[in-house]
Amino acid sequence: MHDKYGPSLLRARHDQVHVTDEAVAELSSFKAKPINFKIGFWDPEKNGVRYLKALIYNFAAGLSDENWKRLRRINNRGVGEPITITYDGEPVCMDYLLAVFELEFIANHVELDGARVLEIGAGYGRTCHTMLSNQDVLEYHIIDLPNSLKLSAGYLRSVLEEEQFAKIRFTPIDEIDERYADTEFDLSLNINSFAEMNAETVDNYLAMIDERSRYFYIRDPVGKYLDGSLDGHSEGREIVELALNTGKLRDVIDIHDNRAVEAHAPAFVEAYRPGPQWSCLANAWAPPWSYYWQAVFGKEATQQLVLGEQLRLENEIRP
Ligand SMILES: C[S@@+](CC[C@H](N)C(=O)[O-])C[C@H]1O[C@@H](n2cnc3c(N)ncnc32)[C@H](O)[C@@H]1O
Repeated sequence: MHDKYGPSLLRARHDQVHVTDEAVAELSSFKAKPINFKIGFWDPEKNGVRYLKALIYNFAAGLSDENWKRLRRINNRGVGEPITITYDGEPVCMDYLLAVFELEFIANHVELDGARVLEIGAGYGRTCHTMLSNQDVLEYHIIDLPNSLKLSAGYLRSVLEEEQFAKIRFTPIDEIDERYADTEFDLSLNINSFAEMNAETVDNYLAMIDERSRYFYIRDPVGKYLDGSLDGHSEGREIVELALNTGKLRDVIDIHDNRAVEAHAPAFVEAYRPGPQWSCLANAWAPPWSYYWQAVFGKEATQQLVLGEQLRLENEIRP
């Protein structure tokens, strides 16, 4: 090789292995192949963590002051060793970024201090952790399957102060009806879990929310996808088939086409409106995943109460 302008050993190796004569001859399809991953692009199959970290980093770089405050108030986010980047000295992971965005959306429409909150399907409890660290909620109820309840109970006990943890009630699915016969919730939440349930189960939960709650927040996919290049259908065809059949929104769409996603937003809002008395107060795309939508609903009686209260206050204030 040329010793004045020649390549490093690393580049020489890339040329030998990837930027070969044969690969160069394949102009019609070279851009998503190894030759190009050694030119201007990192191979997505081998760089999943790099992409995730880049996504987190970009979110952190654009986080508002208010959301930085929300994030910093959540102690012990490192428990469980999440994939993390550091921004302005602060460790940041994807789950709590999402939780902070969700809290921001909800808090724009619902008074959370003093609220009795119900979350259906809490996973390990990131939303509960975020809300209890930022708001003075009265009680936080979690309904979940037994294994997840064990996970969230163990996790939340280890990350929260004792007095915060004491506000949480864990309810297994077989105790829901008896435990909540008389309980009224200010806010019910479902994040990333109605889409994995049977449609009838979702309707049963929505009926319960209709009866027992004043507000409802949901963040979930607007449809299904079949693009195997996204995850290599790594868990096998059987799991793909199962996933296609869960939830209320089962249209298969190109989830990376914003018009296709937006066209399904009205169906999302209709599918998750808990009942005829409910109106959608806000709905929007829920970044970063292209096909997630979010909405806050309020029961009309609640809106009338709020309006009534406003009128009463205005009358009181008038001289
Ligand atoms: C994908 S995880 C999402 C967890 C959490 N909301 C989050 O976004 O991090 C789905 C959650 O829904 C729960 N779930 C699934 N089916 C359920 C059912 N029929 N009733 C209650 N919870 C359920 C799972 O146990 C799990 O906690």
